[in-house]
Amino acid sequence: MLVLRTIAEARQACAGFRAAGKTLGLVPTMGALHPGHLSLIRAAQESCDAVAVSIFVNPTQFGPKEDFASYPRVLEQDCHTLEAAGVDIVFAPSVEEMYPPGGSTSVEVAGLSDRLDGALRPGHFRGVATVVTKLFLIFAPDAAFFGQKDAAQVAVLRRMVRDLRFAVKLEVCPTMREPDGLALSSRNRNLSEEERRQALVLYRALRAVESRFQAGEVDSGKLMDEAQRILKQEPAVQVEYCRIVDPETLEQVSHVRPGSLVAIAARVGATRLIDNLLL
Ligand code: PAJ
Repeated sequence: MLVLRTIAEARQACAGFRAAGKTLGLVPTMGALHPGHLSLIRAAQESCDAVAVSIFVNPTQFGPKEDFASYPRVLEQDCHTLEAAGVDIVFAPSVEEMYPPGGSTSVEVAGLSDRLDGALRPGHFRGVATVVTKLFLIFAPDAAFFGQKDAAQVAVLRRMVRDLRFAVKLEVCPTMREPDGLALSSRNRNLSEEERRQALVLYRALRAVESRFQAGEVDSGKLMDEAQRILKQEPAVQVEYCRIVDPETLEQVSHVRPGSLVAIAARVGATRLIDNLLL
């Protein structure tokens, strides 16, 4: 497994794979890897000849009061995990390598970037779109793998790939969960035992909406009332949004259909968690 720190090395390694006629899959991450990340890597290995994983805690997608400084960084441990998983390239650049000092170029997916998480985290999706564009330009992957767990991120990146005509297939993998339903997240390691228990209310609320929908309820307001009823069972959990939206436009829907996205963001103690289900 190659562990590369510079863009020049990464470009050279990709050129080598291409010269050998191999297809390349890219899995962008911020590290602190868990089985959710590994499911993306497995999907990449199933459909591509070689797999590159990037590990980069991207400063431009964190707001000034967010957890950039305290975001878990465990590169050595992650490299062991990736080696055991049979990954071909790990790309772990410095901030200066990805963002030349004095840089002023960014990628903005207008409209979509201001919905759901984007509404509460101004600039977040500009940061995500910019770093993913940089990674696509460095690796020129045949396919790139993202998790449904970050549904708004998927919507923004789908639109970006379409608008910029990137020649990359965007593959979206299902959300991996703990046996009790908690969506796996690098931030879960910040939860106390009590907070972890409280956090389960997110998935309970999503499931409650799903079962009402399956029983025939299509009125968004009524389904949201049901979600709120469940979320109130844990008063310590501060809900930031709870909405049913179109998964492509992220706009709220009043009439819910199969394929609509129910999405929740909440703070549990100091930790911000998100989860969603496609109905
Ligand atoms: P990060 O939070 O590290 O997630 C990397 C990828 O893993 C994302 O595509 C995310 O949706 C996916 N993922 C996270 N938890 C998952 C789970 N429980 N099941 C399945 N997939 C899961 O998302 C980012 O990093 C960054 O925004 C990034 C795209 C790397 C840009 O900086």
